[in-house]
Amino acid sequence: MTQSLITYSQLPLDLDRDRLPHHVAVIMDGNGRWAKHQGLPRIKGHQKGVDVLKDLLRCCQDWGISALTAYAFSTENWKRPQFEVDFLMGLFERVLQRELAEMIAENVRIRFVGNLDTLPQSLQDEISRSMDSTKDNSTIEFTVATNYGGQQEIVQATRSIAQKVKEGILEPEDIDEKLFENHLYTAGLVPPDLLIRTSGEMRLSNFLLWQMAYAEIYVTKTLWPDFDRREFHKALSSYQQRERRFGKISK
Ligand code: IPE
Ligand code: IPE
Ligand code: MG
Repeated sequence: MTQSLITYSQLPLDLDRDRLPHHVAVIMDGNGRWAKHQGLPRIKGHQKGVDVLKDLLRCCQDWGISALTAYAFSTENWKRPQFEVDFLMGLFERVLQRELAEMIAENVRIRFVGNLDTLPQSLQDEISRSMDSTKDNSTIEFTVATNYGGQQEIVQATRSIAQKVKEGILEPEDIDEKLFENHLYTAGLVPPDLLIRTSGEMRLSNFLLWQMAYAEIYVTKTLWPDFDRREFHKALSSYQQRERRFGKISK
């Protein structure tokens, strides 16, 4: 163990570089419970959660994983107390302002997926600025799902396809999986190979419903603010022990 601790800045020796997931998605859950256990207000968990995400992004870069998608705010999270919602919107904006220069310097491409039009205007402005100024970057595709819901995404894709059919741009026979995918927020992004959910909950909570068709799922009881490189190493080890059959039979 000591040996792998020393090498955590590089890919741990027991992991096979050629069998890493290309795209890792994370449901960052458990911030509130973490804070409660520490006797702190829930927002402290969200603050700590940002640091953890930042380190995971860096870890993906260090270990050669080319896409990371994080679930930051669901279409259902508006049901939380107004104070918590307002805090999260402000937090996203501050973090973007603070981290943008570093993301540019590190060649990170940041993208936001979700129904962005209903977010506070000042946050929308930061989102546009960060997406525009990193759009040609290529070291890692970092996607943040904000006001994101898988069902809402599928409905908006269907509407936009229906509109094109109505206008005569498309025929119903043109609609296939590829075309549908190209109308999702995640168009152009490979689907996640590995989904990690922290805090033990065994559900998707409306995250990437279409894209997750063949993702390997890893659930850990560890709460998001405690998720570190050692935990990520465990998730990747588990992933590398899986046989991804995609409907075929074992070789
Ligand atoms: C996840 O942590 C963060 C967001 C949903 C924004 P939670 O806030 O859901 O934490 P728990 O599940 O209440 O512990
Ligand atoms: C999922 O976590 C959403 C995010 C992590 C942003 P929730 O805490 O909202 O999920 P549920 O309510 O337990 O399903
Ligand atoms: Mg939760």
